[in-house]
Amino acid sequence: MKQKPWSGRFKESTDRLVDEFNASISFDRRLYRHDIRGSIAHASVLADAGILTDKEARKIIEGLKAVEKEISGKRFAFTPEMEDIHMAVEQRLTEKIGTLGGKLHTGRSRNDQVALDLRLYLKDEIYAIAGLLHEFKKALVDVAGDNLDCVMPGYTHLQRAQPVLLSHHLLAYYEMFKRDTGRLLDCLERMDELPLGSGALAGSPYDLDRRLAARLLGFSRVTENSLDGVSDRDFVLEFMSAASIIMMHASRLSEEIILWSTQEFSFIELSDAFSTGSSIMPQKKNPDVAELARGKTGRVYGHLFALLTTMKGLPLAYNKDMQEDKEPLFDAVDTLKDVLIVYPPMLRTMKVNKEAMFSATSKGFLNATDAADYLVKKGLPFREAHRAAGAAVAYCIEKGITLEDLGLDEWRGFSRLFGPDIRKAVSIKNSVDARKIYGGTALETVKKRLKAVKNEIKKGIS
Ligand code: ARG
Repeated sequence: MKQKPWSGRFKESTDRLVDEFNASISFDRRLYRHDIRGSIAHASVLADAGILTDKEARKIIEGLKAVEKEISGKRFAFTPEMEDIHMAVEQRLTEKIGTLGGKLHTGRSRNDQVALDLRLYLKDEIYAIAGLLHEFKKALVDVAGDNLDCVMPGYTHLQRAQPVLLSHHLLAYYEMFKRDTGRLLDCLERMDELPLGSGALAGSPYDLDRRLAARLLGFSRVTENSLDGVSDRDFVLEFMSAASIIMMHASRLSEEIILWSTQEFSFIELSDAFSTGSSIMPQKKNPDVAELARGKTGRVYGHLFALLTTMKGLPLAYNKDMQEDKEPLFDAVDTLKDVLIVYPPMLRTMKVNKEAMFSATSKGFLNATDAADYLVKKGLPFREAHRAAGAAVAYCIEKGITLEDLGLDEWRGFSRLFGPDIRKAVSIKNSVDARKIYGGTALETVKKRLKAVKNEIKKGIS
């Protein structure tokens, strides 16, 4: 078996059990491109500092590119003795170009290397996720546009409350996902610092141009403190909390999709292509995609908590515990992307049952607030108006009728201020149209917002 690069002070070789327990190669191999990108920049910085000749740097860089090709071409056999991706790449480089490969690790440590790789990886993933969120937002906006004037019950406490437009409801999710994109871009901005040069913990003793490395790798800044540079995993936690919030939003939408596709609601029907059946009940058509999206939310929260817990007792600087950052992060990234990919086509292909949504607004006294507001407009204080409208509701419940069924005499029994125009005032259409206030559900208002939102979408990821 090959000697470990760090075996100098050891008399015995590592136990096989320890090799297996210690190794991260089975999962951190995912970082190979970023690891090699970092190493290529480091080789250039070493040459710039006169530690490598230009020729040596060139040979190392060519070797690194060849290793990358082997790995991407699946011609590279990973084994647990390689420990992690950093050592695997270096070892293969040395096999290919000889002892010169051993110069690459000058002035750096795996501690600043892994902090770098993870940042490079996460920056790429955040761009990818922001792109997927953009597609999600587009789908919401398109479905809202296709159903602009569709009226449905709005709920509070899951009790029918006031009528709203489905488009307004869907655009509420647009606003959430827009903030989510902002959160991702905020944390991207904060993680945009190069940790390379921190060395193991105290800083590299070589005169390396960290700003050159930052430029080569596309970082805006360099980290200010070497201990912090290798110890910081806030950027992973920040991403995972942003990811958790995105999942929470997708989960709330999922809950609604699931409810709305029940026989009881029948507000929507998912397409066959985005539903599944039952192995026993022939009639079943289940919203598994939405349920899984809701279920996977727990998984992403779990990863956030796993890493928060791992980090909470760690003294500075690097501790091996921190190797436990990768699996939760990778799974959070994968899970989030899976949800964001499957959702937009599910939304685009669902059938909206306009009639069912509208007819659901006829029961439940969603216009009771409008009856109270009618009285306010006639000069009654809102509290008194609320009481009068409440009495009308109680009367209707007793008689098994709706507010629309009341005759003028009956209305006037609750307040002398009711006039013949009360019938129009409590129509569902009027209830929606009355909410012209900026941010409200009136058709004109939602149309304006939709137009603005479409422009935001056109401008690209924001
Ligand atoms: N595989 C390690 C990790 O993921 C790399 C850093 C190891 N550093 C060390 N000093 N053992 O955290």
